[in-house]
Amino acid sequence: MSEAVHPVPEDFQAKIGPDELARMREEVEADPHRFWLEQAKRLDWYEFPTQAGDWSFDEDDFHINWYADGRLNLSVNCLDRHLAKDGERTALIFEPDEPGEGRRWTYRELYEETCRFANLLKSRGIRRGDRVMIYMPMIPEAAAAMLACARIGAIHSVVFGGFSPESLHGRIVDCDACAVITADEGVRGGKPIPLKRNVDTALERRDVATVIVVTRTGADIPMKAGRDISYSAVREELATECEPEAMGAEDPLFILYTSGSTGQPKGVVHTTGGYAVWAATTFEWVFDYRREDIFWCTADIGWITGHSYVVYGPLACGATSVMFDGVPNYPDFGRFWETVDRLGVTIFYTAPTAIRALMREGDDPVKAYSRKSIRLLGSVGEPINPEAWEWYWRVVGDGRCPVVDTWWQTENGGILISPFPGATPMKPGSATKPLPGIRPVLVDPEQKILEGAASGNLCLASAWPGLMRTVWGDHERFFQTYFSTYTGLYFTGDGCRRDEDGYYWITGRVDDVINVSGHRIGTAEVESSLVSHPKVAEAAVVAYPHEIKGQAIYAFVTLNAGEEGDDALRKELNQEVRKDIGALAAPEKIHFTPALPKTRSGKIMRRILRKIAEGETGNLGDTSTLADPGVVDALVAGRQ
Ligand code: WTA
Repeated sequence: MSEAVHPVPEDFQAKIGPDELARMREEVEADPHRFWLEQAKRLDWYEFPTQAGDWSFDEDDFHINWYADGRLNLSVNCLDRHLAKDGERTALIFEPDEPGEGRRWTYRELYEETCRFANLLKSRGIRRGDRVMIYMPMIPEAAAAMLACARIGAIHSVVFGGFSPESLHGRIVDCDACAVITADEGVRGGKPIPLKRNVDTALERRDVATVIVVTRTGADIPMKAGRDISYSAVREELATECEPEAMGAEDPLFILYTSGSTGQPKGVVHTTGGYAVWAATTFEWVFDYRREDIFWCTADIGWITGHSYVVYGPLACGATSVMFDGVPNYPDFGRFWETVDRLGVTIFYTAPTAIRALMREGDDPVKAYSRKSIRLLGSVGEPINPEAWEWYWRVVGDGRCPVVDTWWQTENGGILISPFPGATPMKPGSATKPLPGIRPVLVDPEQKILEGAASGNLCLASAWPGLMRTVWGDHERFFQTYFSTYTGLYFTGDGCRRDEDGYYWITGRVDDVINVSGHRIGTAEVESSLVSHPKVAEAAVVAYPHEIKGQAIYAFVTLNAGEEGDDALRKELNQEVRKDIGALAAPEKIHFTPALPKTRSGKIMRRILRKIAEGETGNLGDTSTLADPGVVDALVAGRQ
């Protein structure tokens, strides 16, 4: 790994420099209660909390609360409080698939649209605590829909538009949703995405009372009487004011489904006060936010990054946030930089997979644009390899913009490990150091906490405001998944190395979660989809390194007696996974094998499968515990 150190660029003037950062670290150590209450002052509260954190990770006394006696409304924080001074300021810049066809919404427009949506939801009987699914393209109405839920106290659950109807169905059932907000179609890379049609399919076996359809392309779509409402048809009649609900800080704000190592995706629950404080605080700290900034986070709102750094963090701070509904290579590989120049983007935040895909096209598409407005670059979602980091820094940032490699998870609400751009020397490939108040620890399999330079499993020893509060409908699973592996610690599922300078180097998941292009896929979900095919007897899915995607999916499949594995069946299985989960989970490689390597007790030896998928066949490690060592030779010979 590269150990190059890049100091903070000399002329990067940040609000928080090394001295200020050191002071913050001391303050949070000395008096966390006071420090965290201080951070809560970023928001407007109906009742300011008297308590900050109240939590215990111990099984006997397991609880997590933040700002519990505070009351607030997050849509008020993102909208109303900016109106007097900044009503005409741009809140959202919508940058659609087709460059140049965008529009801007001021804070007042976003406020009015949010109130309209909120009134529509209320007119359909939707109340505080009800669950509302959002399955939409990256259009400003999607942000308004989220904020409308927050305004009336309904709990939103955004589902990425790339997930299949079957996935949407599963989530609707799990959280017992009463409404879906969608669009007629999406458009990405010039191709339509049939969102409303997918919703109809998802609702075949479990209907909801209300479907609100926003017009995006104007496609001709069927509407079900009594259930489906065209937003554009009713919009004019909806009032542009809506009284916000005063929410308790611990009232749920949203559910976001994410894959874990076992079973179906979990509904990660974030509550109002702590999440809002964390999104706003980290936005200001990590991105050195200033009023003049044009902030562009390329993530979709279907992921946590879109929640925290397209919508809630920037808007709570009164920033101008870009909502991008396109892809990095459409109409060509210069898209990001053409857009940066045209919009005057100052802070640009994207995923390593996009950086690697662009790097492969060479420097010319980047150099064709000036990018002079950019002052800060960010990375999120997966480990960034030092080569990609260096290219991002040198070519995209011309060696003058700090790169913040931000490590965090859906469960965390916001960034946990990252440089402060004006205070932390950077090492390419390392997310550097924890933010103030975040206490990472490395643990070995025997529960021993490792000190100094070491490698181990990454845990967090104390809570922070943005930590998730429960798994929707299954509090026991919450404890079991995150707090039972290491006593008294939150276990992240990531492996990590800490170097002599106290820098953290995330090495990737150590559980059965695969990170494909920054998207979390559970191997168990893909396996259960594969075995649902009538010809399949058994399946085991592992990750292998992929040049662009970071990791890709390699599936080992055994067939029922008499079945033949060929390309036609590969295609069918691929279709099956697309149908059950979505295109993002489709295996890159499918390897038909007469048998899987198992221990004598029948456990699949994934370690060996991983090695084969990675092509490390000369180094399979100990195979003596295999029930039938002959299986391995056949597997090696049949590698895809
Ligand atoms: C990985 C995305 C290395 C990690 C915000 C984590 C990273 C998982 C980084 C969470 C990073 C995210 N460096 N690895 N900067 N950021 N990861 O829930 O494995 O979609 O556990 O949240 O992505 O993915 P999630």
